[in-house]
Amino acid sequence: MKFFIDTANFEEIKEAYSWGIIAGVTTNPSLVAKEKNISFHDRLKEIAELVDGSVSGEVISLEADGMIKEGLELSKIHPNITVKLPMTPAGLTACAALTKEGIKTNVTLIFSANQALLAARAGATYVSPFIGRLDDLGQDGVELIREIAEIFAIHEIPSQIIAASIRHPQHVTQAALAGAHIATTPYKVLTQLFKHPLTDKGIEGFMKDWANKDQ
Ligand code: E4P
Repeated sequence: MKFFIDTANFEEIKEAYSWGIIAGVTTNPSLVAKEKNISFHDRLKEIAELVDGSVSGEVISLEADGMIKEGLELSKIHPNITVKLPMTPAGLTACAALTKEGIKTNVTLIFSANQALLAARAGATYVSPFIGRLDDLGQDGVELIREIAEIFAIHEIPSQIIAASIRHPQHVTQAALAGAHIATTPYKVLTQLFKHPLTDKGIEGFMKDWANKDQ
């Protein structure tokens, strides 16, 4: 399983990218809205020039024609751009049309295996099931990843599964075990993945012993 980072904050992306683990970035309108005084397209360009991998930018239109127009514009920003489309009939129409143009797509807001299958058949490069939001409703988000992974394996479907709406480190482990190709992870959760008290204690012990060694 690869890591994408789920943010539109350039400082977070730069820092996480320096760790050598980031294979892509996802943004959404809410994440972009958190950033003050930026142009959406300029920010996507800045990210895509830094990161060697897929950078998802989401359309705002709700109609297929508008989504296609926006998707074509977004795709011109940089070859790394992936057009993110909502899981609606219009989103799938746009997905099929943009796929025909050779543009990468990420169908987002997936909450069932059937939605993932539909998105895949419309040609989605990536499908994004939101596991945290399902957990919030008392459903099992990780189980959805497992179902989609099994269906894609049985039917040899090439779309990649991005586990999205990741809330904590356990989600990351569980998504990897369930067969997600990618986990798009918020910066805070990425920093939590590093931590183990025995690692800190181990470093402290090594440093202390080194300082006290005979010379
Ligand atoms: C995925 O691409 C979305 O941007 C994201 O994971 C949504 O997560 P949330 O449920 O924390 O908003």
